[in-house]
Amino acid sequence: MERRFEVLVTRRLPEAGMELLSESCRLRLWGEDRPAPYAWMQENASGVEGIVCLLSDRIDAGVMAAAEEKLRVIATMAVGCDNIAVAEATRRGIVVGNTPGVLTEATADLTWALILALGRRVVEGDRMVRDGAFTGWGPTLLVGADFHGRTLGIIGMGRIGQAVARRAVGFGLEVVYHNRHRLAPEVEHAIPAKLLPLDQLLARADFVSLHCPLNQESRYLIGPAALGRMKPTAYLINVARGPVVDEAALVAALQAGRLAGAAFDVYEREPELSPGLRELPNVVLAPHLGSASIETRRRMAQMTAQNLLAGLHGALPPWCVNPEALERG
Ligand code: GLV
Repeated sequence: MERRFEVLVTRRLPEAGMELLSESCRLRLWGEDRPAPYAWMQENASGVEGIVCLLSDRIDAGVMAAAEEKLRVIATMAVGCDNIAVAEATRRGIVVGNTPGVLTEATADLTWALILALGRRVVEGDRMVRDGAFTGWGPTLLVGADFHGRTLGIIGMGRIGQAVARRAVGFGLEVVYHNRHRLAPEVEHAIPAKLLPLDQLLARADFVSLHCPLNQESRYLIGPAALGRMKPTAYLINVARGPVVDEAALVAALQAGRLAGAAFDVYEREPELSPGLRELPNVVLAPHLGSASIETRRRMAQMTAQNLLAGLHGALPPWCVNPEALERG
């Protein structure tokens, strides 16, 4: 009989992924529909050869050590890997796989859902109607922002940032961006989008949308100084990672009327909300839905399983963030 690999799975994936995993693995599965506690991961990691995790699981040196020497691959069902100690994994010869590309369009769609809902006050309106407070059309009832002729500032112009930018053209916005690298001239031209230094982007944009990965440089990128540079009529949208924004500073800016509004899909201490956020009428709060379309999640689950299986067989996962780990393994 074919050998079955021991694998820790921190949550049931969509069926397409579970089917692939079950064929050749013995699963130690966290069966509840809430994040696996860190202690559960540590207790159950002993001797596993692979880990399948979510973006909400902290996979650090402690979990890797608990798995002992056998651990060869960590496959996360996400594109962002900030929850995984990748350098530590590389040092231990453990390959890390993620799911880039497949969630780009869904995440850009969700970003636009938030921009539109925020600017046109859709959530406030929904609440008003449900509360029975809608008494009929009014000339100034919930008037909001225009999009055409305005400027969208994108911070982090990778795949998702570019997909958000392409959609802006349809709404008649000009796009400026800030990124570590300048895009190729033909890509800039095709969108079109213009590179600006961060300070200039913040001062000019009517909508600032965050799409950078979370790392040392981007943590608290949007704090008091950055918020102070934004126009009081501007909106901030965070679909990247919570800690890119200093939420206490943002709440203070919103409370003082130094910003028109904000929309979040991710939170600094996810899933907790920062004090004051819930009470603000001019914020839209989504529960980390960026990639949440049925087909995208199905594909992400498959890619996660494919990454895991490749790693278990000692091969490079098809989507790998640290291929250099194989040389160490
Ligand atoms: C979602 O936030 C992801 O990183 O896939």
